[in-house]
Amino acid sequence: MTTLIDGKKTAADILEELKKKCDWLKSLSLDVPGLVTILVGSNPASEAYVNSKAKACNEVGMKSKTEKLPESTTEVELAALIKQYNEDDSYHGILVQLPLPKHFNENKIIEAIDPRKDVDGFHPFSVGNLVIGKDTLLPCTPHGVVELLKRYKIPTDGKHVVVVGRSNIVGKPVANMLLQKKESANAIVTICHSASKDISYFTKQADILIAAIGKPNFITAEMIKEGAVVIDVGINRVEDPNEKKGYKLVGDVDFESTAPKASFITPVPGGVGPMTIAMLLQNTFLAYIKMTNQKLK
Ligand code: GUN
Repeated sequence: MTTLIDGKKTAADILEELKKKCDWLKSLSLDVPGLVTILVGSNPASEAYVNSKAKACNEVGMKSKTEKLPESTTEVELAALIKQYNEDDSYHGILVQLPLPKHFNENKIIEAIDPRKDVDGFHPFSVGNLVIGKDTLLPCTPHGVVELLKRYKIPTDGKHVVVVGRSNIVGKPVANMLLQKKESANAIVTICHSASKDISYFTKQADILIAAIGKPNFITAEMIKEGAVVIDVGINRVEDPNEKKGYKLVGDVDFESTAPKASFITPVPGGVGPMTIAMLLQNTFLAYIKMTNQKLK
């Protein structure tokens, strides 16, 4: 029997927990956590993400601001805006929506963010802490994957996790999280990617398969073993004339063929996707707690 992992419901539970915490802060007349999201240019998918982040902040009662800047913004101007929010005590999280237009050096922009406000977990300081197993702000999508495994009580200790994809946003961090000698981790981790000659050689060995390659329906039933846990991080737009918008969203996993063979599987949409925002708001709350405590000392 296959269990469908309901990311929408799990994310809603996390947001509800955060809302209670924000209500509690308000009842004590304390400031609430604040998140600023910066979008440069007009990528429609990025715009949709940014709007849903602001909406979620409002729903849980956090302060939020969205800075929408024109495509022509320079690196110096963006760095100056980040500096302004680094110094603004009413914002505890700063998120620069990626990808940035081509004329930006993304690494340089990420490094301009105060690591204490790095709610994306992309700053080299956060990445380094993750790798050495120190408490830090964790990247949201991979953290969402680990949180789903945890909340569905899927054991990871000694299990073989195979990650398909080596991006800085998902593949590398999720592999590092599950590798740690910690609870909800301690897995044997393999990362395979586009240079792997025979990807199915690896995927067939996975107790837990994490697909994050950005190729629609790439993982098929023949590529997994019976009873594997399948986590699909892909969100791909594919043309579909039957849909009003002219496209539909599909994952990196061919859900139809794979689901009957899996013990657990995440759907797309409604699987990992909604968890990203929930973990982002959780990070904003954690950053707030750390920063306000520091000030109380
Ligand atoms: N673009 C796609 N995913 C992400 C994310 O998690 N954070 C940011 N900042 N940009 C993204």
